[in-house]
Amino acid sequence: MFGPRKSIEKLAQRDSRHSLSKTLSWPHLIALGVGAIVGTGIYTLTGVGAERAGPAVILAFAIAGAVCACAALAYAEMATLIPAAGSAYTFSYVAMGEGIAWIVGWSLILEYSLACSTVAVGWSGYLVGWMQSAGLDLPQALLVGPHGGGIINLPAVLVALGVMGMLIAGTRESATLNIVLVIIKLAALSVFVIIALPAFQADNLQPFMPYGFGSTEVDGQKRGVMAAAAIVFFAFYGFDAVATSAEEAKNPKRDLTIGIIGSMAACTVIYMAVAIAAIGATPFQLLANSPEPLALVLRSLDQPLAAYLVALAAIVALPSVILVMMYGQSRVFFVMARDGLLPRSLATISPRTGAPTRITLMTGVSIAVIAGIFRLDEIAELANAGTLVAFMAVGACLMILRRRSPEIPRLFRCPQPYLVGIMTILGCAYLLFSLPDSTLVRFAAWNGIGLLAYFLYGRGRSVERQDAAAA
Ligand code: ALA
Repeated sequence: MFGPRKSIEKLAQRDSRHSLSKTLSWPHLIALGVGAIVGTGIYTLTGVGAERAGPAVILAFAIAGAVCACAALAYAEMATLIPAAGSAYTFSYVAMGEGIAWIVGWSLILEYSLACSTVAVGWSGYLVGWMQSAGLDLPQALLVGPHGGGIINLPAVLVALGVMGMLIAGTRESATLNIVLVIIKLAALSVFVIIALPAFQADNLQPFMPYGFGSTEVDGQKRGVMAAAAIVFFAFYGFDAVATSAEEAKNPKRDLTIGIIGSMAACTVIYMAVAIAAIGATPFQLLANSPEPLALVLRSLDQPLAAYLVALAAIVALPSVILVMMYGQSRVFFVMARDGLLPRSLATISPRTGAPTRITLMTGVSIAVIAGIFRLDEIAELANAGTLVAFMAVGACLMILRRRSPEIPRLFRCPQPYLVGIMTILGCAYLLFSLPDSTLVRFAAWNGIGLLAYFLYGRGRSVERQDAAAA
């Protein structure tokens, strides 16, 4: 019903030629995870989350973190079972067939692209605040898109194009640079907590849940703890970077468990600490919708130097999150084109740099345009919708393959797979339906276009379908 499925054996044969050396241990994996995960989610969306949930944004971080931890465990088992490019798309191709794989791949394209745009807009917020605090004022029309009365968010466009240029030139983030950036990001968040926490006032946490728990519409805006969780969920993804390094782990069972659970737990604790410090130090209304909430809190505490340094850390470190996401995007696109579902001509690789130049160019420009025009929360919410669907698919793949192929050795076995799989699906579905209705409509439209493209183009050119017909 869902079209042909790929076989694990065939994928394994193709990938056995490229076995990677086993050099990573759990501390490396935690660094890898934290490097890919910590970004605009905590630096900027904390403010949006506070607007949606009030002080209970702290709880929203815990809920989103718990759902992501389940998804991460499912991801880890799947990544070790099917260590092929394309992550959730490829897992779904194996477990559920081409039709579902298409929807997941199409959702992943949305996830990765819009996550890049979101981080670019977040980066721009800190850059602009930082320049203004240094006395440099740029024309407002070039700093914000039409939704804020401007023309274009030029810094966001430039950072997206800059990262695209780096990828086209064949840049990859080195492990050493990643560790340096992780240290910078964490040092900045620690400085924030150390300075903001002593200014904690319990009154700022009252009432804790001014908009209640469930996501409900108030003044045309979804509010409540779940509405906030559905947006701050953004802060947690990126851990597929850990799951996809399974092959390189020295002791995958131990290293992946500690690496994934460790980076999720570390991020959840850090995020909650930052949220408690931010909300305790300032009334949440002040944080809401600030383009640079952490710097704002520090300035309101009369700590301009610390605000300046935290903003600088965001400016230096956030582009690497865009790099990781844009890389992921181009790889999913590439694998779908190689499978014949998208035009193959797009998947040509530059012999000089080894990068899929056309795809990177096309997606980089789209990411830049979106970042230049749209509102941060709208982009992040749509990115989250794509991610949530991909996570649900991974939860389903975990359970399906445990039932269908229990005998295949798994490098990493997810504990309690059925519980974790069901929790992933239910948790992600709850978050998905806590998103604003407008986001769900846009997401449905995106998938409508996708399905049209599949039936008009991809289905007839699918390599897997042709192989199945020839056999
Ligand atoms: N988790 C990443 C971030 O917050 C995408 O920027």
